[in-house]
Amino acid sequence: MEESTRGVKFFTIVVFLCLAFADVSGSSEQPLADIAIHKATRALSEAVSIFASPQLLGLQAKGLPKIKWRLTYRENVRTTSLGWERGAAPPLPILVCLWWKVTCFTKLKAKQGLDFQSSFSMHMSLAYIKGEDTEWVNVTIFNPNATADDWVGVFSPANFNSSTCTPDDGDDTPYICTSPLKPNLVAISNFISFLNPKAPLYPRLAQGKSWNDMTVTWTSGYNIDEAVPFVEWGLQGTPQSRSPAGTLTFTRNTMCGPPARTVGWRDPGFIHTSFLKDLWPNFVYTYRMGHILSNGSYIWSNSYSFKSSPYPGQDSLQRVVVFGDMGKAERDGSNEYSNSQPGALNTTDQLIRDLGNYDIVFHIGDITYANGYISEWDQFTAQVQPIASTVPYMIASGNHERDWTNSGSFYDTTDSGGECGVLAETMFYVPAENRAKFWYSTDYGMFHFCVADSEHDWREGSEQYAFIEQCLASADRQKQPWLIFIAHRVLGYSSASGYASEGTTGEPMGRDSLQKLWQKYKVDLGFYGHKHNYERICPIYENQCVSSETSHYSGTVNGTIHVVAGNGGKKLDTYSQQIPNWSVFRDLDYGFIKLTAFNHSSLLYEYIRSRDGSTQDSFTISRDYRDVLACVHDGCEPTTLAS
Ligand SMILES: *[C@@H]1O[C@H](CO)[C@@H](O)[C@H](O)[C@H]1NC(C)=O
Ligand SMILES: *[C@@H]1O[C@H](CO)[C@@H](O)[C@H](O)[C@H]1NC(C)=O
Ligand SMILES: *[C@@H]1O[C@H](CO)[C@@H](O)[C@H](O)[C@H]1NC(C)=O
Ligand SMILES: *[C@@H]1O[C@H](CO)[C@@H](O)[C@H](O)[C@H]1NC(C)=O
Ligand SMILES: *[C@@H]1O[C@H](CO)[C@@H](O)[C@H](O)[C@H]1NC(C)=O
Ligand SMILES: *[C@@H]1O[C@H](CO)[C@@H](O)[C@H](O)[C@H]1NC(C)=O
Ligand SMILES: *[C@@H]1O[C@H](CO)[C@@H](O)[C@H](O)[C@H]1NC(C)=O
Ligand SMILES: *[C@@H]1O[C@H](CO)[C@@H](O)[C@H](O)[C@H]1NC(C)=O
Repeated sequence: MEESTRGVKFFTIVVFLCLAFADVSGSSEQPLADIAIHKATRALSEAVSIFASPQLLGLQAKGLPKIKWRLTYRENVRTTSLGWERGAAPPLPILVCLWWKVTCFTKLKAKQGLDFQSSFSMHMSLAYIKGEDTEWVNVTIFNPNATADDWVGVFSPANFNSSTCTPDDGDDTPYICTSPLKPNLVAISNFISFLNPKAPLYPRLAQGKSWNDMTVTWTSGYNIDEAVPFVEWGLQGTPQSRSPAGTLTFTRNTMCGPPARTVGWRDPGFIHTSFLKDLWPNFVYTYRMGHILSNGSYIWSNSYSFKSSPYPGQDSLQRVVVFGDMGKAERDGSNEYSNSQPGALNTTDQLIRDLGNYDIVFHIGDITYANGYISEWDQFTAQVQPIASTVPYMIASGNHERDWTNSGSFYDTTDSGGECGVLAETMFYVPAENRAKFWYSTDYGMFHFCVADSEHDWREGSEQYAFIEQCLASADRQKQPWLIFIAHRVLGYSSASGYASEGTTGEPMGRDSLQKLWQKYKVDLGFYGHKHNYERICPIYENQCVSSETSHYSGTVNGTIHVVAGNGGKKLDTYSQQIPNWSVFRDLDYGFIKLTAFNHSSLLYEYIRSRDGSTQDSFTISRDYRDVLACVHDGCEPTTLAS
């Protein structure tokens, strides 16, 4: 959804904390005094100081984690909240330039102002989130004339030199030259370096093209000419084998426009994907990522584990989580943007608490809301790492991943901030034939998923329509009774006020194009995001509820139940005042869906709130294979009906 329009704020005093990303030798550490955000150095004040320690991160931690900040205040400082507000236009600059290794934990602003004559310390952790490798950095700031407009920023790389900044040459230089902000830089800290800024990070699993392939995708600073990437893996407790990995990256010129191509550009590092093949179903596998350097030494990540996927049709407990539009946020509220995804951490945290109680996740579009600020993808992959390193994290493409004018997206908007799909298609693996055409199918035991790409044409006659039909038709319902359709935009039904104000109840040409397919193939459930609220629809066909039941469905599949689950984290969207007669349950809070298939004839649906894990809405489906075969209106071939 669109960003809300806000005024751009300007800040007059900036304190920079410098992060250098040099190795121990430190040869690339340089003074930052000429960072030249519009002659900011002129304001350097001897009365202001900032100091950070330790200066080398990673001596305690393995690998290189993301940086997290936490502000802690001495008693004489009133400030409690930190934040940043983003203006919609012009795109707000990145005050703080982050290297690909560091997530965009960039700007800290004391909203209510610091007390005069005060100082405070800031803790920065290297966080492998689940208590693995956390390292704190204490930052001490002293500013006798502190005001509410004070900022602390992180600069990475610290050796940025404005005189090498050549705006449109398309090289990989961090691009802050055109920052419209004109802050006064009052102090610069010492530099902080990482022991190994190239370490492999943020593993994310995804189903491969076959049910018994698992893919591991991760990010590192090692290109293939420097080190060979691979995954070491195997059944838990047995000798491990190795599988090679492919490596992808992209350049600024791959981006379609600003800010991805300008102030938002960051070198993404290298994204590796390894294919773990021929897995035995239902076993726990352990894995870790590695890089072999040319001199034969190894760089290792931490170790992780996952449970391999069930055989298609396998009768066992299988649990699926579905949500959309989650995004990311920082725990202390500091961020370069306004808190535009206030529910993201609650959803993430609830899913981390629930690990072990679900088997696969579908994040159905609007993944990070990086919107062209590329380092935010690192922030996001760090945030979901506990989930994505443990269960397959399957994504769909949304407007904030793909849309860009004149770039082939079905909608002619700039919602992706110039990313035009490149980030989503590179940072996460999906088992699509062509990752630029973001539609795919995947099997998980008794489930068959058809994931559509609402940012490309789905109408009858389109390439995607043919895929959707083929995908739905390929579900063997005796073995895979639970057939699920997924798309980012609401191709089904929604009473969100945004649609209502346009006089619609979903994307134009959405269900009109697809409902015949859903009916013919007796799709159980359709899931959508895009509207940031929860709404469950009755089993429906051609705008008519085909059942007045709301909690226990049984027997023939007369219509499809559609669900909007776009309340993963992004600011919530209101509903139309009038509740359409097909709307069964609406909830304006953050949450996600959990599907539990007990066996081939019993499915539990739950809508769970992120804030407390409580189930707010639920129903069950009970039925036999014969109920799927039974002919219903428009649900059988005409020839079958003829006799
Ligand atoms: C950071 O501050 C804490 C508490 O004041 C202290 O215990 C710790 O040693 C400091 N760490 C560093 C690296 O300075
Ligand atoms: C603080 O600000 C006041 C008013 O602008 C100024 O007179 C004073 O010199 C400043 N103090 C320091 C230490 O910069
Ligand atoms: C920045 O780059 C220019 C041109 O290459 C060079 O003359 C200058 O010394 C550099 N500044 C620093 C601090 O390295
Ligand atoms: C191999 O090269 C790396 C990076 O240059 C270095 O850190 C490591 O010590 C080297 N190992 C050996 C065995 O020479
Ligand atoms: C489907 O429609 C038939 C005939 O109208 C009805 O008997 C049956 O109960 C319906 N099934 C469901 C699941 O609502
Ligand atoms: C629901 O409303 C639609 C029009 O919005 C109408 O066509 C349909 O008959 C109504 N269904 C029921 C069950 O009232
Ligand atoms: C399927 O699971 C449900 C819920 O656990 C149970 O009540 C039912 O007996 C099971 N059916 C079969 C055929 O196992
Ligand atoms: C997140 O969860 C906490 C704890 O339940 C709750 O107090 C807070 O309001 C939630 N935040 C949002 C944005 O829903």
